[in-house]
Amino acid sequence: MSYPTVRPRRLRVSAPMRRLVAETRIHPAQLVLPMFVREGLDEPKPIASMPGVVQHSRDSLRKAAVEAVQAGVGGLMLFGVPTHKDEVGSGGCDPDGILNAALRDVVSEVGDATVVMSDLCLDEFTSHGHCGVLAPDGSVDNDATLAVYGDMAVAQARAGAHMLGTSGMMDGQVGAVRKALDASGFTDVSILAYAAKYASAFYGPFREAVESSLEGDRKTYQQDGGNGREAIRETLLDLAEGADIVMVKPAGPYLDVISDVRAAVDVPVAAYQISGEYSMIEVAAANGLIDRERGILETLTSIRRAGADIVLTYWAVEAAGLVSGR
Ligand code: PBG
Repeated sequence: MSYPTVRPRRLRVSAPMRRLVAETRIHPAQLVLPMFVREGLDEPKPIASMPGVVQHSRDSLRKAAVEAVQAGVGGLMLFGVPTHKDEVGSGGCDPDGILNAALRDVVSEVGDATVVMSDLCLDEFTSHGHCGVLAPDGSVDNDATLAVYGDMAVAQARAGAHMLGTSGMMDGQVGAVRKALDASGFTDVSILAYAAKYASAFYGPFREAVESSLEGDRKTYQQDGGNGREAIRETLLDLAEGADIVMVKPAGPYLDVISDVRAAVDVPVAAYQISGEYSMIEVAAANGLIDRERGILETLTSIRRAGADIVLTYWAVEAAGLVSGR
């Protein structure tokens, strides 16, 4: 009888031993909480397709922001849902539009204690649900959209946002936003570029969260799921245009892309665990199919292991609690 001299299991014998040798850790400060605020609400309103997530009223948003900061999360990402949408998404540039008003609320409440970020995209504000303005033939007009993003960026910076999430996937958007910010004196406002953003089925529940009226898809501007090299090209372009942080989205189905982007750049890399990734686990757990907390931690750990320094997740507050002390 011969015995193995090398036994990897020795480092798995107990919880303290496993904790000692863990290669990947999650710190609350690396987690960013996406939050929705809906114009005209008195009470928070549950989002049926995202169990546990709500559209906030302006009041409940302030309170939830304080709770998130107390839980130690690294940042907040705000999405606004206006009552009235129009062809050009004017609510996004209006200083009193819901997102800009909510930004002022949150910055005055917790702005010294966390990084306040805002979604810089038109789809929440347009009646057709596209991330840009449309040309007469109905296609998304890239360059006309850039001008609107520039105005929207300045409006968000004036409202106090620290970091803007350019998520529309228009060519040149990071450069246009950087230029508009700098021209208005907002040189310290940073850009989180959704550098590699894929046209994904997993955005499904988000459509309800922002009451999107999109018909059709975003395949003329978001990336095709099979293209990995293209993600590097998109990322390097965004960096050349002035991005401070680059993001891959969705996260779970694109772990290889996170890993490749991490290896290709020396700026912080973020990943967004999106609505569908969230709801799949919530719904499976609610039906007794998987252990919810283990599922949350396993997916977040995998996203970190792949190379993401920062993770946007709807579980940010809960996960911050789960990992503290680990
Ligand atoms: C665009 C945007 C989307 C999401 C974040 N920013 C929607 C899309 O690109 O279709 C999706 C986030 C999620 O699904 O959790 N403003």
